[in-house]
Amino acid sequence: MNKLGILLSGRGSNFEAIAAAVREGRVEAEIAVVISNKPAAPGLARAKELGIPAESIPSKGTRRDEYDRRVASRLKEYGVDLVCLAGFMRLLSAGFVEEFPERIVNIHPSLLPAFPGLDAQAQALEHGVRYAGCTVHFVDEQLDSGPIIAQAVVPVLEGDDEHALSARILKEEHRIYPEAIQTIVSGDYRIVGRRVFGGRVAS
Ligand code: GRF
Repeated sequence: MNKLGILLSGRGSNFEAIAAAVREGRVEAEIAVVISNKPAAPGLARAKELGIPAESIPSKGTRRDEYDRRVASRLKEYGVDLVCLAGFMRLLSAGFVEEFPERIVNIHPSLLPAFPGLDAQAQALEHGVRYAGCTVHFVDEQLDSGPIIAQAVVPVLEGDDEHALSARILKEEHRIYPEAIQTIVSGDYRIVGRRVFGGRVAS
């Protein structure tokens, strides 16, 4: 499993972290294609600068199942075997998930199952938690669900606003997402129920 397909909708900093890890050999895979539903996504432009195949498939006005079919078939044309969501702001249909069983991963800026959905960092601040963080997980047909591959914890500090907390979490996202992808790419893991065991963990 060594061809990654990245789906993004915006800034693309997680994509860049993955691309850097690929360049440096920390992720033993290639990025086969970057696809965005937003033609103006900065992450798409950055991919092109890096010489990575990148294209937009605009979602506006297209039914979800039809859109997902289009994206899935494009990913398959590129030979993608692991789909990495990196700020892809769309829910994936069950049909899409079935096309890539246990082959879709996502990064979410909270310690799931706390604070799924939009504005996770703001939700964490509002709730008053002392620790926040991020989660890399397999994607199933529910929102921010699916077995957890990796998590990182950061403290919530007294002076934090959403911006400061998000920046602290993002730094950890850029660290754990490539690490988790390498675990999956290496095949050195097992999924038992909802638990994901790395190869070095005794059975
Ligand atoms: C990240 O916070 C990620 O956890 C969430 O969307 C944001 C994407 O940021 N899913 P970027 O586009 O990777 O910079």
